[in-house]
This record gives sequence, structure tokens and C-alpha cells, in this order.
Amino acid sequence: MMARDFTDRVLAWYDRSARVLPWRIAPGSAETPDPYRIWLAEVMLQQTTVAAVAGYFARFTERWPTVGDLAAADDADVMAAWAGLGYYARARNLLACARAVVTDHGGRFPDSEAGLRALPGVGDYTAASVAAIAFGRAAVVIDANIERVIARHRLIETSLPAAKREIRAALAPLVSDDRPGDFAQALMDLGATVCTPRSPACGICPVMADCRARGRPDIERLPVKPPK
Ligand code: ADE
Repeated sequence: MMARDFTDRVLAWYDRSARVLPWRIAPGSAETPDPYRIWLAEVMLQQTTVAAVAGYFARFTERWPTVGDLAAADDADVMAAWAGLGYYARARNLLACARAVVTDHGGRFPDSEAGLRALPGVGDYTAASVAAIAFGRAAVVIDANIERVIARHRLIETSLPAAKREIRAALAPLVSDDRPGDFAQALMDLGATVCTPRSPACGICPVMADCRARGRPDIERLPVKPPK
């Protein structure tokens, strides 16, 4: 029914509307992503907002511009620089991961989702997002923003966490083979700026035409939270 499919509409919207973020390469840019910077940003962004991460990301990359620099840092310096971001296990894992990349991989991040997943502190989300954004792998990236976009577009009314399986099954065939990193980041931006938890801006959504939750008075309920 649509002139262009979901993936194309989302990517075209991203080309016009991508947020400018310190770790992001603008769509269409000739620059190559630096896996170290992508990984660092994705670890910092877990459970922390984009606004809170920006300053930390700038300070870390200024002080430790490469994974080798970070691997060689004193633990206490890294912990001190992390102070305020919270979840300190992430900072310990950050160092363990940087050191594993240097010791076990010659200072280069593995370029596959499975290779990344085997690094210390790298979970399913981080492995998928770094594989897609840094290495152009067609990984299925799912964070809370993407979960919301897909649960609404497909009217997935199962409650989390069970809904995750359905969301993954719906999203997997939509992933862009050509631009998987932009596609993942487009859905993150769509969830953060248009398909927001409260009062989503459906009128400007690039996939509103076939969104099954559009216009429903209970759209804010989706995705359905886990039972208490
Ligand atoms: N949240 C987590 N990763 C992100 C990214 N790459 N861009 C925007 N928001 C994000």
C-alpha cells in the first residue's frame, strides 16, 4: 500500500532529521566511523541520557583518544572521569574491554556481532549497535526507543519483557542491508523525538500511514510495561 517501504521512509526521514551528536557521523558523510568512539558512546548511553553523556564523551575522547590510550590508563583516573555517570560496573567493564581489545585483538575491535559480544561487558545491545554503526553489519539493534516505535507501529500489545521476541521478529526483516547503522540510529531518533512515550507527534512521523497504533487513545500505553 505504501509507495516506499518502512525502511526507505525511515532512512529518508533520517537524512532530513538526524540529530547532530558528538559520536555520530552525519548521514551521507564520507567519514568512516571509529569503532572505539562508537563503542564508548554506546556503553555510556546505557541507562544514561544523550544530554548527560555528551560532556563525558568529549572529556574521555580528549583524554584517551584511542582504545590503546584508554587501555593504558590508570583505573583510578578512569573511575574518577566516570564519576556522575553512575553504574560503576560499566566503568570497570569499559577498562576490561579496552584492555582485551589491545591484548587479544591487537588494538582493533572485532568487526562482527559475535566477536564484539565476546568482549568483557559487551552485551547483546552493545554488540548489535557497534556491529551496525561502526562496521555496517545488518544487526538487529533494539533499545527502549526502538522497542516503542515497533510495538506501536505493529500494535504489539504483549507486555514486556515477553514482547521483546515479537518486536525482534517484526524488526529483523526491516533492517537495512545497505545502511544498518543509519537505520538503527534513525529508529533511536524517531523514538526520542517523534514517537515519544507521552504525546507522540504522529503528524510528523514518516511511518504514520501504516502505523497500527496511530490515533488510538491508548497509544501511550505501548509498549505495555511489565506487570508489577
Ligand atoms: N542512544 C543509544 N545509542 C544512541 C545513538 N547511537 N544515537 C542516539 N541515541 C542513542
